[in-house]
Amino acid sequence: MTRRFVLDPFGDKYAHRTSSMLSSEIRDLLAVTARRDIISLAGGLPYTQAMDPGVILGLVEEVLREDHAAALQYGPTDGYAPLKRSLVEVMREEGIPCLPEDIIITNGAQQGLEIISKIFINPGDDIVTEAPSYVGALNSFLSYQPRIHTIPIDGEGMLLDPLEKTLRRLSGRGRQVKFIYTVPNFHNPAGVTMSTERRYGLLQLAETFDCLVVEDNPYGLLRFEGEPSPALRTLDENRVIYLGTLSKIFSAGMRIGWVAAPHPILEKLLLAKQSADLCTSSFTQRVAHLYFSRHDWRGQIGQLVEIYRERRNVMLEAMEEFLSGIASWTRPQGGLFLWVTLPEFIRTSDMLASAIDAKVAYVPGRGFFPYEGGENSMRLNFSYPEPELVWEGIKRLSKVVKREVALAKSLGLGPKTNGYPGTEE
Ligand SMILES: Cc1ncc(COP(=O)(O)O)c(C=O)c1O
Repeated sequence: MTRRFVLDPFGDKYAHRTSSMLSSEIRDLLAVTARRDIISLAGGLPYTQAMDPGVILGLVEEVLREDHAAALQYGPTDGYAPLKRSLVEVMREEGIPCLPEDIIITNGAQQGLEIISKIFINPGDDIVTEAPSYVGALNSFLSYQPRIHTIPIDGEGMLLDPLEKTLRRLSGRGRQVKFIYTVPNFHNPAGVTMSTERRYGLLQLAETFDCLVVEDNPYGLLRFEGEPSPALRTLDENRVIYLGTLSKIFSAGMRIGWVAAPHPILEKLLLAKQSADLCTSSFTQRVAHLYFSRHDWRGQIGQLVEIYRERRNVMLEAMEEFLSGIASWTRPQGGLFLWVTLPEFIRTSDMLASAIDAKVAYVPGRGFFPYEGGENSMRLNFSYPEPELVWEGIKRLSKVVKREVALAKSLGLGPKTNGYPGTEE
């Protein structure tokens, strides 16, 4: 369907909060990347092709045979109790202790972010995020009209000095930060992981300035190398609201995530969830529960890790081959993404049309910052395209970048790279 842009006749009816919801021409541009001739390094998609459909078919049959009436019915708002026990097992796999009663199940971690925003953010409230930060979280937060204070990151996650300065400055003005939002493992979009020392430091600051911490951890089990650091929740259960999801280790289509939090917060979240959707799908929760109680899910994650590690390696090699000396990039130890920083004069939002013309797509960095920043950076995904396509995609991208650099040179702009902290040249 082609969309015509007309003046919105309903403009005077919308709530003020809609004006802070991010619109996206980028999304319109990226919509074309579903075309088969375009190599998309833009998505955040797990590689669901690796899942055996026969396994899921068997589980669906079993769910219906066991109790089709309950599977087709509404369920409790806080989630299907047997699945909570499975989620506790998933957390234990990462060394995070949790009890089923500390969890509510949500429609993906995204709903967790939305209801956290709903119960905590009044217009004008102060919250803190990393910069860059997960765009879906920023969108949820922004629709509740907070002031977002952004803290730069390097190869070890959020920088503590600027965090402390921000918290001190705000507290000096009698303002209190409601929460600090972080993706500590294999960050989306930056690919970096917060060091153990920073985790302790972050929690110390959160305690000093009495703010909550929202720990969003979709990728923790997708580790290719290195030793895991303790989860923030493990270090301070009473201050951390933890978000988990099955999207990246089982299925994004099932829409199952969860929140683990102190009980008073869970109660408020439950009310917020109830008014949003009554309950998460009884059907998919049962399928997921059978999957995690009957199937070798650890083996399946192991396979995904192998697939993603190979693709990450190919992407890193291709970056080295085609873009070294021009760009800098992160070297993720897990997860789905690489963050690339180009010379300052390149605007990745403007360059996207040329990239799509060259049949490759990426996500421009700008969208990962609430107000400004990221103009010369981009997020690349390596989990979804086959390895040959990852290589070819970077090759195509490098041609587009080199054209931009040549153009800038001819205009007298110097090709200096903006040394993004924690990246490799
Ligand atoms: C950091 C982060 N949080 C939350 C989500 C949302 O996940 P879900 O599919 O569980 O809603 C994503 C998805 O990409 C993500 O990267």
